[in-house]
Amino acid sequence: MANAANKPDPGRLVLGIESSCDESAAAVVAGGRRVLSSVVASQVKDHAPFGGVVPELASRRHLENLAPVVTAALAEAGVSLEQITGIAVTQGPGLIGALLVGLNLAKALAWSRELPIVGVSHLEGHLAALSLGGEPPPHPFLALLVSGGHTSLFLVNGPGVQEELGATVDDAAGEAFDKVAKLYGLGYPGGVVIDRMAAGGDPAAIRLPRPRLHDGTLDFSFSGLKSAVVRFREQNQGRDYRIEDLCAGFQEAVVEVLVKKTLAAAAGRGVGHLALAGGVAANRRLRAALAEAAAQQGLGVTLPPLELCTDNAAMIAAAGCHHLRAGRRLPLSADAVSRLPRGGALPPGPPS
Ligand code: KG4
Ligand code: ZN
Repeated sequence: MANAANKPDPGRLVLGIESSCDESAAAVVAGGRRVLSSVVASQVKDHAPFGGVVPELASRRHLENLAPVVTAALAEAGVSLEQITGIAVTQGPGLIGALLVGLNLAKALAWSRELPIVGVSHLEGHLAALSLGGEPPPHPFLALLVSGGHTSLFLVNGPGVQEELGATVDDAAGEAFDKVAKLYGLGYPGGVVIDRMAAGGDPAAIRLPRPRLHDGTLDFSFSGLKSAVVRFREQNQGRDYRIEDLCAGFQEAVVEVLVKKTLAAAAGRGVGHLALAGGVAANRRLRAALAEAAAQQGLGVTLPPLELCTDNAAMIAAAGCHHLRAGRRLPLSADAVSRLPRGGALPPGPPS
């Protein structure tokens, strides 16, 4: 397909590269919608002994894994690098060393093939994942983005057009899951384990605080909840309680705050559709509670397939397609970004 000026479409066949945390991922996406391949090399086994991601180790694994993952993504899609029309790479937020591995690989590929390249916000990638798994949510929609590094509410007005309405002021929801699991020695990553254990527990048996639930803002805080679990554990040393109940009680506290603030944001902005994104969107209780709350309020809801919730590069290619078509380009001098400023957008780079 060519555009009106008969120029080639840079979004026709986009190679996406993601390395912001502990997944080395590459994908080929056609036209921003059709996933031709999505390859993810997980480092979970490498970090599990430490109960969390070790940044230095993550960078080294990306160095080993990322180039073969790109090769595999191209092979799986049945395309050669010569056929790729543009490259999209996660520029941030994330672990700087890890991001730099992906960013430099993407720049090298773009430079050697003279391909257009864009830097993508990891958060925008998670939002773009919503348009890959079947029916995309209708704009505007209210997205709850919950992952190991982020907890934000976004009003999404169009592809790549989002406004951050609220965010965590300390720990992310996924981080709280991981830390509580680590405290009890349940394994890593903690979210999946707590999700599983909570299914066998009573969410009302152990009541934990709902941080900032009634503070009148759309911000979150989960570090106090984690401290409440630490205190609960200390105060109940030697007493008999079920760990499944603790998991269910903790999960319920997180889910209640997330769901109620999401509904408040939707009501405040008069938005009729909700969507869930990020790794914690895989949580079964959160999915059920949000779907139930949406139904009660007469709101639509989009719950993405599980493989699109956690980190992948198809979401980066999808988000990047839009920016490539809009003519944005990443200068080869561009740096990785560890954190986004409040508002959730990548800082504009220098003109290329
Ligand atoms: O989006 P993601 O893959 O990486 C980041 O960008 O952070 O999210 C990973 C996070 C981890 O904290 C993990 O514990 C959490 O998502 N997670 C879950 C579940 N599956 C993954 N949290 C709760 N319940 C789950 N089923
Ligand atoms: Zn993520």
